[in-house]
Amino acid sequence: GEDDRIAGISSVIRVIRDFPKPGILFQDITTLLLNHKAFKDTIDLFVERYKDKDISVVAGIEARGFIFGPPIALAIGAKFVPIRKPKKLPGEVITEEYSLEYGTDKMEMHVGAVQEGEHALIVDDLIATGGTLSAAIRLLERVGVHVVECACVIELPELKGRDRLGDKPLFVLVS
Ligand code: PRP
Repeated sequence: GEDDRIAGISSVIRVIRDFPKPGILFQDITTLLLNHKAFKDTIDLFVERYKDKDISVVAGIEARGFIFGPPIALAIGAKFVPIRKPKKLPGEVITEEYSLEYGTDKMEMHVGAVQEGEHALIVDDLIATGGTLSAAIRLLERVGVHVVECACVIELPELKGRDRLGDKPLFVLVS
């Protein structure tokens, strides 16, 4: 069943202490990717949720949203749009800033990648503070796209990133 698949996925996510900085417990999904069943179950659970929902765009967040987003997009019949760190995309971009604990960061998307009125799903591996996803939501909404939901493999609930998404639904496999 679904719970067994989620337990299997959870069991192959590796936790690494003090990466990239002391005190951080890094959630490493590369070990999930090594396990064919867990990787396939991850994609299948998202596809089962989002097929037949009239989603025309899967927007994936750099870097690990580029791993999980494209197979979901292909399976549900949507296009894939990368949302990237600054100065990575070669064409004309729109930029959205978001605040970090100290300072700010930015995400960018190509102008013309999406059209007004499209329905989008945003995909990333993990939500921590929610800053990244909130910027991605604003980027898409600024160009008139309806963001149906955000989907992540992992949520760190103690950081309350969900609260930063306002009323936008967030679906996660592992908390
Ligand atoms: C991680 C993660 C999310 C983001 C979540 O990316 O993959 O994209 O942080 O954090 P937030 O909810 O606090 O915004 P990271 O900063 O490690 O960048 P990378 O994917 O390019 O390595």
